Amino acid sequence: MAQSTSKTIAVIGTGRMGGAFGAAFTRAGHTVVYGSRNPADEKVQTVVKNTTGSAALDPHSAAAKAEVVVLAVPWAGAEESVKALGDLSGKLILDPTNAIQFGKDGAGLAVDTSGGELVRDWAKGARVVKAFNTVGYFVIANPSALPGKVGCFLASDDAAAKAEAKDLVTSLGFEAVDVGPMKSARVLEGMSTLYMVPYFTGKQDERFEWSVVRSGNVTLGPVRTAG
Ligand SMILES: NC(=O)c1ccc[n+]([C@@H]2O[C@H](COP(=O)([O-])OP(=O)(O)OC[C@H]3O[C@@H](n4cnc5c(N)ncnc54)[C@H](OP(=O)(O)O)[C@@H]3O)[C@@H](O)[C@H]2O)c1
Repeated sequence: MAQSTSKTIAVIGTGRMGGAFGAAFTRAGHTVVYGSRNPADEKVQTVVKNTTGSAALDPHSAAAKAEVVVLAVPWAGAEESVKALGDLSGKLILDPTNAIQFGKDGAGLAVDTSGGELVRDWAKGARVVKAFNTVGYFVIANPSALPGKVGCFLASDDAAAKAEAKDLVTSLGFEAVDVGPMKSARVLEGMSTLYMVPYFTGKQDERFEWSVVRSGNVTLGPVRTAG
């Protein structure tokens, strides 16, 4: 796995994504501190025991200790969670949330813009990067179980933050794919609704991940420029 400088990472939320991030970042040589609403809870302590060298604190204290904060909470609790973290100035926030809601026809977007843009606006002074929102928790926990590299799409308005996020994502064994400004989170969160297809159709199982296939030796036409 690629190396990135060892960091203290606050993983907010101790559910499926939180536990997977904790395991993955620890394996990559980072120090994990979980931010939990109930750090003493037995389930939370089990997650801590399974993550070597970690601890669980309240979310505000966890974020205060860390250079990087991962927001592994449900969309419905995201605004409250971000606002409970206190001063996030200068911190790198990785946002895997999906602003989606579920109906009888499947999953649809819950907001007109994107969760990524809203998190960016709530987390004042922080450097927010949308990341991992299309990657299943079981893949984050164990990316090498898949035959090829899974893509982790990165969207942010902050180029330096995106470069740092790229190092972290690569250190976990994913291919970081830069998809431009935070506005691209609208597309990424739409992709996450497609990710729900296996659940709602029953036609595929959960092994449904996104990656990018490069076009290799295909001869390209004239290079197009934006504008
Ligand atoms: N599951 C996936 O494969 C997957 C893939 C891509 C993206 N995502 C996104 O990642 C985020 C986390 O997903 P998840 O599957 O890890 O969710 P989860 O298993 O339900 O865990 C979420 C955790 O967030 C914390 N939390 C904070 N505020 C909460 C609230 N108001 N209600 C409930 N829990 C709250 C809880 O930890 P404490 O009790 O310790 O506070 C909880 O264990 C979601 O936004 C989801 O859309 C998930």
